[in-house]
Formats: sequence, C-alpha cells, structure tokens
Amino acid sequence: MRILITGATGQIGSELTLELRKRYGGDQVIAAGHRKPASEELLASGPFVALDVADRNAFGQVLREHRIEVVYHLAAVLSASGEQNPQRAWEVNVLGLYHLLELARELGIRQIFHPSSIAVFGPKTPRDRTPQDTVLSPTTMYGVTKVTGELLGEYYARRYGVDIRGLRYPGIISSVTPPGGGTTDYAVEMFYYAVEGKPYTCFVGPETALPMMYMPDCLRSALELMAAPAERLRARTYNITAMSFTAGELAAEIRRHVPDFRVEYKPDFRQTIADSWPRSIDDSPAREDWGWKPRYGLAEMVEEMLRALRARHAAGKLYAAEAR
Ligand code: SER
Repeated sequence: MRILITGATGQIGSELTLELRKRYGGDQVIAAGHRKPASEELLASGPFVALDVADRNAFGQVLREHRIEVVYHLAAVLSASGEQNPQRAWEVNVLGLYHLLELARELGIRQIFHPSSIAVFGPKTPRDRTPQDTVLSPTTMYGVTKVTGELLGEYYARRYGVDIRGLRYPGIISSVTPPGGGTTDYAVEMFYYAVEGKPYTCFVGPETALPMMYMPDCLRSALELMAAPAERLRARTYNITAMSFTAGELAAEIRRHVPDFRVEYKPDFRQTIADSWPRSIDDSPAREDWGWKPRYGLAEMVEEMLRALRARHAAGKLYAAEAR
C-alpha cells in the first residue's frame, strides 16, 4: 500500500509517519512537509518530499510520481495561527483539501484520512458532552475551514464515491513534536517548563476546561477508523475524546510529580477561542460504530509525558528535533 502523509513534520504527522512506516515499510510511506524542517528520524526512515498542499500541480505530481493509494491529509494551519492569517488558513485547509479531493477522483485514490477538530463547534453549541449532531457555527477561521472540510468530504463521498474519513480531534498532547499555533498548545507547553524547572505563564485561565487526548490514542484512533468496514460507519467524521480537564487541574497533576512547579495565568486572545469550544465531548457514535475506546486518562498521560521529556532533558535533547 502506497501512503502519503501531508503535514508530516507537524505534531501528529511526525509520529503517524513513523507508525505507518513500522506497519507498511519505510519506502511505502511518503512524508510530505512544508515549512518545518523534518527530523533526522523522519528523513532516515523513508522518502520525504517538500509540498505546499495549496499548490495543486505540485500535489498532483507527488500523488502520481509515488503512485499514492491512501492519503493522511494532516497539513493545516491551526486555530491561533489561523486568526493571525485567516487567508492562509483558508488556502491550506480548504483549498488544499479541495485539490486533494479533485485529484482523488481523477486518480482513484483509495482512501483519505482528514482530521477535523472540536473547533467546528462554536458559542451556540452545547458545551458539555457535546453531541455529534449539533450546531456547527464556529467563530474562528480554523473552525470555518474544518466545517467546510467536513461538508466537502461528505459531498465528494456521496457524489464521487471518495472514501474520506475523519475525526474531530480534541487538543492533542504529545512529547515528540510540539504543536504549533493551536489554542490547546498550553497543555503541551506546561510540561516543557515543568521539566526545565521554569515557571509557566499560561495563556488561558485556570478554570478553562477542554477535551484532550494523548498521542498514542490519537494515532490508534486514526488507524482504527481507517481499518473499520465502511458499512459500519454511519458518519464520515466522528466526535472523539479521551479526557477533559481544566488548565488548573493539569498544573495540579503535574505538581504531584514536580512539587515546586509554578503557573501564572495571563489569558490572551486564545481565551476567547477556548471559551467558544466544548468542555467535554460525547463520542458514543464512535464507540458504537467502530469500537473506539481511549486508553489514557489524565494521570497516566501526565506520568508518561514527564517520563519521556525528563529522559530527553537529561540527555540534553529536550529541543533536539526542533525549536519550540
Ligand atoms: N488543537 C487544535 C487547536 O488548538 C484544535 O484542533 O487549534
């Protein structure tokens, strides 16, 4: 199976690429990245191509040249960056997906994974145990692009039979590649400061609760959804979650391992974004249709994050892969 991953140098892509290469072989899995430099591990484990997904000709060339059958389309501008440059967010997130869907229909791509986000919800959506079918009226450009992407995908599936599947990811927490430009980034940054013994200034208030997920669950959910028999799926894009906690609760859990860790709260424009998103998610359709079940809660995730980052810090490689 010939697989392409766009956004392969990003937070999810960098780990998903390695996981897919383990399963399908390094040469079968083409990593495509745009702005960020690829890590040594990514470059050593299989092919890497530079690609701006908003460039349709370049996108088509990569798909043809590598005879791609399955695409994990992760390239995206996240919520906070999207508010700095809404035009670029539209180009990458919507135009990039549109090019891919057109090329998929032309070239007969077998399957596409396209993540969505809790950012599809907005201030008019119920914020607790947010159901799958509810008001999608986001106030960020990122949210607008993700709703558009979901609808576009559904259209291409219905009209042209493109097998596109997606998950509305909550904030993703991981120890390998830091996220860039998201509203949930504080939940990762906090760990780096704790491990370095520095105080952290959090850009949302201590009472801010958001749904979250640890990377191993994030990767497994994508692979399980892609492997699920099509006839079991009642939706193209599923709500999914693993845990919910406030910024204050996360700091307290970290403090159980790093007792003198200090956090100061200075909410900025990202507070408004966080306040427009759900506090918790109802992912029962994912559980019923394809057996979704998270493995990591807050305590296990914090323990593993600190273990991984402390080991890197001790080796002097906390920021080895790329600068935060
Ligand atoms: N974690 C993402 C963000 O904050 C949400 O998809 O933008």
